[in-house]
Amino acid sequence: MRKAWILGVAVLAATACKQGEEAEKVTEDMSVLSDMHSYSKPEQAKVEHLDWKAEVDFNEKVIYATATWTLADGAKDRVIFDTHDLNIESVVDEAGNNLVFDLSERDETFGQALSIELPENTRQISIKYVTSATAKALQWTAPEQTEDKIHPFLYTQSQAILARTWIPCQDSPGIRFTYKAEVKVDPALLALMSASNPQSINPEGVYQFDMPQPIPSYLLALAVGDLYFKPVGPKTGVYAEGSVVDTAAYEFADMQKMLEAAEALYGEYQWGRYDLIVLPPSFPFGGMENPRLTFATPTILAGDRSLGSLVAHELAHSWSGNLVTNATWNDFWLNEGFTVYFEHRIMEAVYGRDYSEMLASLGHEGLLTEIDDFMSENPDDTKLKIDLTGRNPDDGVTAIAYDKGYHFLRLIEETVGRERFDLFLKSYFSSNAFQVMDTERFLGLLRKNLVSPEEEAQIGIEEWVYGTGLPSNAPVPDASRFIAVDAAAQSFLDAAKLLPPAEQTEGWSTHEWLRFLAKLSEADVERLKILDQQYAFTESNNSEVVAAWLGMNLKQTEVSTAVDKKAEEFLVRVGRRKFLTPTYKAMIEGGHIDRAREIYSKARSGYHAVARETLDKLLESEA
Ligand code: BES
Ligand code: ZN
Repeated sequence: MRKAWILGVAVLAATACKQGEEAEKVTEDMSVLSDMHSYSKPEQAKVEHLDWKAEVDFNEKVIYATATWTLADGAKDRVIFDTHDLNIESVVDEAGNNLVFDLSERDETFGQALSIELPENTRQISIKYVTSATAKALQWTAPEQTEDKIHPFLYTQSQAILARTWIPCQDSPGIRFTYKAEVKVDPALLALMSASNPQSINPEGVYQFDMPQPIPSYLLALAVGDLYFKPVGPKTGVYAEGSVVDTAAYEFADMQKMLEAAEALYGEYQWGRYDLIVLPPSFPFGGMENPRLTFATPTILAGDRSLGSLVAHELAHSWSGNLVTNATWNDFWLNEGFTVYFEHRIMEAVYGRDYSEMLASLGHEGLLTEIDDFMSENPDDTKLKIDLTGRNPDDGVTAIAYDKGYHFLRLIEETVGRERFDLFLKSYFSSNAFQVMDTERFLGLLRKNLVSPEEEAQIGIEEWVYGTGLPSNAPVPDASRFIAVDAAAQSFLDAAKLLPPAEQTEGWSTHEWLRFLAKLSEADVERLKILDQQYAFTESNNSEVVAAWLGMNLKQTEVSTAVDKKAEEFLVRVGRRKFLTPTYKAMIEGGHIDRAREIYSKARSGYHAVARETLDKLLESEA
């Protein structure tokens, strides 16, 4: 196992060096974990602190910045940073002397290595640079794409390896540093980071930030917009555009309760405040766990607080991921699987077991479908410990890491009992806080501190982690609240097309509706028409319901004008990849690829680079 892994690293090091640098011998010293997605060589020189001074220019769509890195003791004669489309102006040491540096050849996925010669005793280096107008992490949003349509908006998305497109950094989840920043923006706008944050505007447009806890680079984040703050609890609050901030404070009213539930489960929250910012709808993810300030899509503003589990999820990352961090993107399931487990535990604590089991059950069904899809083409990608060598780590963002990971942890809980599992997890988070974790070390801790050999055999740890597919002992969530929903769906699919009585559907939350629609995925055009007459799904304001509804309609050969119009409106406005991919796929399945491409050509410029990359592949268009 270990040998094979070292070999994998060697192969990658060779690819990473194709840019004419001389190939380095891979060291056998595993005390510093190698990361196949970063050019940096922390065993030679490692950073420990960043001072970032920046000016955001909305006209040119660039950031002018100086990144001053303090190196940890023991640096050798060269330090290497990851960069991607940065224009480096100068590199100097603390005395202002120019340092010799070299940029390797550009790789479309990994960018360029910035290699800097270090004269003896150099402690600090300052890199002056400008970002590119096409920097992949940066989304420059035009006023029309914001809610209030007056000011532009900028936000970053650094995970997994996009931090290097806006800050030269050692872009590996295993390398942590503290940071301070000074950011200058248009005086009409507020700037926020994954750090201590202002709650109101500064008339000079200059903001200071401090992140005293060490974080990995993928948690670097910045948002700039016409933003306002509203508190939710003593340590929690929301930022959003003026017309959204009250809605958001209502929707996320339970944030403080969630925070307290999380602390009661797995120990004290380590990051000071926990706030959330609502971004423009082009944000490619549901949420991103930037420390102290979760970034969230506005598509979870359902009006009825029904999509709050996303907040529980991002909050849970404050332990799983931000505190104990996956060593490389091959261990991504450690971040996401633990977080889904923790998310369900928070939801259970705040809303009850019934409710959390409903969410777990939806995840379970999604997992079965995704595993099915993968098993025919890429069975290796259904392993928890995935091998992403030479690939974009984005390829690992699948239901495997999230939901297979969750099922594995739940099986452990059910095997050893909740009490023992919770004790284990609590001490796991405290004793590994601010450190990296890889799959093998986690399994070692599991064996040492939790499971007996008999329990291990019962669980089948090796098969779960290194095997493909879903093991037959996977737990099945208790979907009692869905029994009546499933029966209602079945009656409608039967010859008589019976719809459930209004008294029944009145009590349904988003989740029952989603289950109902999932069970009707094979409904024919005639039934779809009846459903829309009865429930007006096409007009729904709930993004989850709309996405599910569009999917089942667009895969038909015959699509109503109303649905087609809604699809275009939704796809042009919303950039959340989780909705885009299945919606465009459904159009392809229904034989509407030309229409899909037509909509995509209108929508593409408003999407974030990570969504564009996925959809360019899907729709085979470079437009
Ligand atoms: N950290 C992820 C988002 C992410 C993963 C971005 C990998 C880039 C690379 C975040 O915590 C997440 O999982 N978001 C989910 C939310 C969810 C499962 C509730 C999303 O965006 O859908
Ligand atoms: Zn997550």
